[in-house]
Amino acid sequence: MATASAPGKVYLFGEHAVVYGEPAVPCAIERRATVTVEERADDRLRIDAEDLSLDGFTVEFSGSTDESPSVDVSESLLTAAMGYVDAAVDQARDAADRPNAGFDVTIDSDIPLGAGLGSSAAVVVAGIEAGTRELGVELSRAELAERAYQVEHEVQDGQASRADTYCSTMGGAVRVEGDRCETIEAPDLPFVVGYDGGAGDTGELVSGVRALKDEYDFAADTVTAIGDIVRQGERALEAGDVDELGRLMDFNHGLLSALGVSARSLDAMVWGAREAGAKGAKLTGAGGGGCIVALDESSATETALEYTPDCEQVFRARLDKEGVRLEP
Ligand code: PMV
Repeated sequence: MATASAPGKVYLFGEHAVVYGEPAVPCAIERRATVTVEERADDRLRIDAEDLSLDGFTVEFSGSTDESPSVDVSESLLTAAMGYVDAAVDQARDAADRPNAGFDVTIDSDIPLGAGLGSSAAVVVAGIEAGTRELGVELSRAELAERAYQVEHEVQDGQASRADTYCSTMGGAVRVEGDRCETIEAPDLPFVVGYDGGAGDTGELVSGVRALKDEYDFAADTVTAIGDIVRQGERALEAGDVDELGRLMDFNHGLLSALGVSARSLDAMVWGAREAGAKGAKLTGAGGGGCIVALDESSATETALEYTPDCEQVFRARLDKEGVRLEP
């Protein structure tokens, strides 16, 4: 039996613009998906996922991926979750040259599904690591990140960027620009995450931005301006200037809003955080619903978000420097 865990992530800067070749800086957070893999005597796959999210948003199913599970989340989220696990297991089989290996897989995640926190990437990264270790193979981090990206690419019909899987594998802050990924230095950032209990449709939101960008030069300029914020943000990260990072996050949120990917609930949480004195706040991920991320060392933002009607859950999560790891 082998158990591995991998972190979720927030986008400090650059979602959406990264689709058009601008850089982005996602940061791993201390919220993990943990996957245990045990080889079976036959070639079947059994998946148990007791808690794929926060309280009140739980997926429970067991059985092979071709059996219909009983769940209380949308069919599309569930199908996606199963698809990721299936493809991650295939990567482990391929890496170990054991195409017929069967597994019992148990998933335990405290990252909300489809909410911009990289839950699927964390499950895939931890799943490949646990699966390969169970079969006696040790992958380099670079190979693990590459295989995890292949899974997302396959399951998301070629629509995935490398940001989530690379960040979840390596931990810390990373910089992604096209196919180029690298880890970058970052201070210990005091993230506070607000979650509206919902999820946006990434494909639809990306298409919406593309349409705006094609129609209006100023929308294309907005995407370029987000790239400028990311470059400025990298300098602030290097200097450990948290005040400047906050200002740039506010700016980034405004531009994402202009591109039509925010939502009333996300704006309400962003304003709740700002009024409480957060250094900055923005939506994270595709938008349309899901999570915001704020920077606040004090507990004021957490308290304000607890009293924000649109906010269903709030939690503090520090930057996770570790990335994927084997669990005892
Ligand atoms: O919501 P997430 O974590 O899947 O992030 C989507 C980020 C986008 O830039 C909108 C799309 C992408 O693949 O980079």
